Formats: sequence, structure tokens, C-alpha cells
Amino acid sequence: MLESQKHLFSLEEGVHYLNCAYMSPLMKSVQEAGIQGMKGKSQPYNVSPEDFFTETNELRNEYARLIDCTDPFRIVTIPSVSYGMATVAKNMKGGKGKNIVVLAEQFPSNVYPWLKIGESKNMEVRSVKARDNTNERGKQWNEDVLAAIDNNTVLVALPHVHWSDGTLFDLKTIRKATKEVGALLVIDGTQSVGALPFSIKEFQPDALICAGYKWLFGPYSIGLAYFGEAFDNGEPLEENWINRLNSEDFSGLVKYSPEYQKGSLRYEVGEHSNFILIPMMLQAIRQLNSWKIQEIQEYAKHLGNPWLEKLKEKGFEIEDSKYRGSHLIGIRKLNLNVNKLQQNLKDHKIFASVRGNSVRLAINVFNEDEDLNEFVKVMGISIS
Ligand SMILES: Cc1ncc(COP(=O)(O)O)c(C=O)c1O
Repeated sequence: MLESQKHLFSLEEGVHYLNCAYMSPLMKSVQEAGIQGMKGKSQPYNVSPEDFFTETNELRNEYARLIDCTDPFRIVTIPSVSYGMATVAKNMKGGKGKNIVVLAEQFPSNVYPWLKIGESKNMEVRSVKARDNTNERGKQWNEDVLAAIDNNTVLVALPHVHWSDGTLFDLKTIRKATKEVGALLVIDGTQSVGALPFSIKEFQPDALICAGYKWLFGPYSIGLAYFGEAFDNGEPLEENWINRLNSEDFSGLVKYSPEYQKGSLRYEVGEHSNFILIPMMLQAIRQLNSWKIQEIQEYAKHLGNPWLEKLKEKGFEIEDSKYRGSHLIGIRKLNLNVNKLQQNLKDHKIFASVRGNSVRLAINVFNEDEDLNEFVKVMGISIS
């Protein structure tokens, strides 16, 4: 089993960082990759035309391994989730009487594009809410998503786990339902890919969009997108030169090509050969692949579970393990004194997000027993 990897990071002593869902800390090796990338620009004469392609292609290969995808050319770099979702929105079908299904309180980058296209094409956006007054909240929420999909659904846009409370969605069953009605399935993997196994082969989404700076351990402003066959002949958001056929031939760039590069490369962001961000992202994904995502999930489970039991004994509500991941957990309590909790967390240098009367706990391989011990202690003294 994986052991603590804290030594690979630069977290300060005494800090309990339980907020990878906000932003991951940078690994020392990823930081070094960025420094080397920056230094490279000091000698631009060492940057060859080939270099514009090599590392992005390596990144595609590594990420393809991570998400169990057989065709790396379906993977492109994007600057943000909103960019990936805008690409989907630009290429989806729909019209009056059709509908789009999302979750209530889903992350805005996976909501605004659908509200906009819903309005412009006269489509309903169905926002499926959790029923908080049930003891089978996660199960019920999954069932309600399935019930919202009908013959007029053109797109279902979901996360694998909800960003604020960690509820897990059964993508295999949801995929089956979308296929039956011919709807696209688009997943925002930002809060799961990198910590919870994801398989393109198994879930068969039409698109998987992911920011790189959380569970993928990358820098800010780079993400990764997978686009399936449904997008094969679509229109990219921008017409950049490097995505056109034969762009490798720098001397022939003005022999303008009507054709794009293969697979989904037409959707890759302009200047994708980012000589600082790409090597950093690549190093991070290599490290994740060498740890193995299942191992990371197991690490979070073994570290977190005994402490979650203690919280339950103190009366905190935590989703049934069947309907949540082990890396991102919502912890609720009605009489939680939020102001007191926030002050206590701060005083003990504990970093976790507080939203309403619930706390979002994020566990990763740099966390240790000590972090959870402090967290549980502070939760216990923050009830009014
Ligand atoms: C689920 C989810 N998606 C996307 C993002 C980031 O979106 P963007 O890359 O558009 O800023 C976040 C950030 O917190 C998130 O939690």
C-alpha cells in the first residue's frame, strides 16, 4: 500500500492542508520542471520546431494511461474547464422542446454554458436537487438524475463527484440512460480524476473535461479534455495554426490547410506548446501514474475512515460510503457553529472549506494521521 508522500511536497510544518479540492500543493519535482521550462526560454535557439509537439504528445500519452483511454489523440490541453465546456456547447445539437440535465449547485463552469445555450435555443435546463431530508441522500440523488433524463434530453452534464459535498454519481448507469435517448454525456472530472479511478473505456463519456490544478497536481491555467467520436467533425472555438494538418512543417505554414490534425486535436488551445506549464503537467501526471489512482483512493480511504467514524460518533452526518469517494467528503451538522469553526480551523492551521452547515474534507497522499486528528478535534469543539 502507498505510504505518505508528504516528503515530495513543500508544506510547512504545523500546517494541516485538507483542501486539495481547492488547489493542490505543488510537488517539488513539478516545481523543478517549471523552473527548467522557464530557463529554456533564456536560450530560444535551443527550441526546435519539433519541441512544439513532443511534450504535449507525451502528456497525451500519460493522461491516456491515467484515464484508461486507448487513443491519446482524443486528448487535448485546454486552459480551463469553461473552455472545454464552451467547445461542447458550440458543437451540441438541440432546439425548442429539448432539455439539458445538470445537478443543483454544480460548479458554475459546468452550468453557465448550458444556461446560455438553453436560453438561446429555447431549451430547458433541468437542475436536479439533492433531497436533504432523506437518509439515502446519495442513492436518491442518483435516482432523481435518471428520472430527469427523457426522450427530449440532448445533454447530461455532470461531475463524477459533486464538488461541494463529494456525492458520487453512478456514471455507468447514467451513460446507459443517455444512450437509450441519444443524449450526450459530458463529465467535469476536476474533483475526481487523479484521485478516483476513471475509465473512458468503462464510462464511455462523449467528453471528459478536467482542470489540472487540483487532484491532477498541475499548475494553474492548464487542463485536459477528452473528446469522443460525437465531436469528430465539429468546430473548434478558435482557428489556430498548430491544429491544422502538417503544421509540423514550419516552412510551409502559409500553404494554408483546410484540414485539421487527427483525432480531437482541432480543439486544442492555441499556443498549447506551453514550455512551462506542459512539462509541469507532464511531470505531475507521470507521478500520478506511478502511484496509481486506485492506490491514491485507497490511501485516502485508509487514512480517512477511522476518523470519519469518530465524527459520526459525535453526531456528524456523512454520506454512505457507496455514494461518495474517499478523497472528498462532505461533513454536515445542524448545530455546527460556523463562525466558531472557521476561527478554530484558522487557529489550528487547518485548511478545509466550510460551506453553509457543512465542511468539505479533501484527503490526498501528502496528508497524515496528524492532519485528521487535528481536524476531528477542531470539529468536536465547534458545535454550539
Ligand atoms: C468541479 C469544478 N470544475 C471546474 C472548476 C474550475 O473551473 P475553471 O477551470 O473553468 O475555472 C472547479 C474549481 O473549483 C471545480 O471545482
